[in-house]
Amino acid sequence: MGPLSGVMVSLPGDFGKGRSGRDRSGQDRPGQDRPGLTRGLRASNGRLATVCCGKTRYAPWLFHPMLNKQGINVMAKMTIAPATPADYRRLAEKRLPRFLFDYIDGGSGTEQTLAANCRDFDRILLRQRVMRNVDNVETAADLLGRSASMPLMLAPVGMAGMFARRGEALAASAARKAGIPFTLSTVGICPLAELNGPGKEPVWFQLYMLRDRSAVESLLASARESGCDTLLFTVDLAVPGMRHRDTRSGMVGAKPLPMALAKAWQLGTRPRWVVDVGLRGKPHTIGNLSHLVPDPTDLNAYKQWIESQFDPTVTWDDIAWLRSLWPGKLVIKGVLEPEDAEAAVAAGADGVIVSNHGGRQLDSVASSISKLPEVLRAVQGRAQVFLDGGVRSGQDVVKAVALGADGVLMGRPWVWALAGAGEAGLSDLLETLRREMQVAMALMGVSRLDELHPDLLEARPA
Ligand SMILES: Cc1cc2nc3c(=O)[nH]c(=O)nc-3n(C[C@H](O)[C@H](O)[C@H](O)COP(=O)(O)O)c2cc1C
Repeated sequence: MGPLSGVMVSLPGDFGKGRSGRDRSGQDRPGQDRPGLTRGLRASNGRLATVCCGKTRYAPWLFHPMLNKQGINVMAKMTIAPATPADYRRLAEKRLPRFLFDYIDGGSGTEQTLAANCRDFDRILLRQRVMRNVDNVETAADLLGRSASMPLMLAPVGMAGMFARRGEALAASAARKAGIPFTLSTVGICPLAELNGPGKEPVWFQLYMLRDRSAVESLLASARESGCDTLLFTVDLAVPGMRHRDTRSGMVGAKPLPMALAKAWQLGTRPRWVVDVGLRGKPHTIGNLSHLVPDPTDLNAYKQWIESQFDPTVTWDDIAWLRSLWPGKLVIKGVLEPEDAEAAVAAGADGVIVSNHGGRQLDSVASSISKLPEVLRAVQGRAQVFLDGGVRSGQDVVKAVALGADGVLMGRPWVWALAGAGEAGLSDLLETLRREMQVAMALMGVSRLDELHPDLLEARPA
């Protein structure tokens, strides 16, 4: 035991809840240490040092008795390196005004489905296999004909440009560097032209069906012109889910004076976001629909527009119309039941995404991972099958692939990384996930994705 071993400093604030914790869905989980977060700061006999880039550095001035707890907090924030989605989530929480953080973080209803998405991944265990020669583990995957460095995609997230300055452009760049696809939401802040261009791997585009079909036609035409070859058509938002956190945080709903003051306070306590994103990140229009959508910073007007424009009359018959406009790959996003997966394939989909919109739509539906096997049985290899909801580690990706998925999408984690630590943070997170996959596969005794199969999984004992 060296001089630094011993007491872990208990830090208040974001990284400071060393004696409590949150589980992967963000729920409070008292009584849990989080070694990943507290590793950066250790103290013994009042002495203090930081562990940075694997090296221990002493900071003598920090030993001064006048140093108060706040000073320790500042130091902790400066020196602790985020590694996991949970770490980036805490950074994002520190940087974003409350109403924006809650908008990403929250789900619908009592957030049962949001919690189940992560919890059901945790219920699946990996099997450790040894002595298998895993010198060369390969995570490369085929995603709808595109070769990717791993079976992971960045899911469409609306208004990502409100969480980091020109957020979608940064995320698309990080995804390209990582060799995986990025999907731009219909309601993204950056327009397609800002993301695609000569010499750049085109992003994928996600579509919500609008009542104004001519707007849909022109959106698809712009997507094609900008080079997009893959369209994700989202089918689980016939009407928006009931997201109570957005009401509580003042994101939507009436704005009586106390609520308006509370929101002003939220902004006032995040000056960095106000300058970096609020002022320097403009324009904050919905890039590809700026001519149609009211100012999205007025969330009430934006929500009303969604409610008036998102088309709840859509049926499978409309897919034929979409197909006639879209010659590229077509993926149906938001299927949970095998009958719907069957209908998607019959309608000509090249891919199906098993998804409950990250627990933001119908609360109390099953988790995506628990529905994956049924959907795979229905599709029977006629289309690629992907999954999203609750993917928080490379091990989760391995679990989904072992069950038969062709790949997974990740929503909240990429936004947390971007909001918390910018493009570099997202790049680091993607590399961590790829390494986690590699390590998991090696320790499961497999070298390629097609060697992963359900026999390498087991259920957590009750
Ligand atoms: C803040 C937020 C905005 C989202 N916006 C969209 C969207 O515009 N279009 C869409 O198809 N899905 C959207 N989704 C759903 C994601 O694409 C994805 O299905 C979900 O986030 C996956 O769950 P995860 O966050 O647990 O990874 C959004 C999700 C979040 C958290």
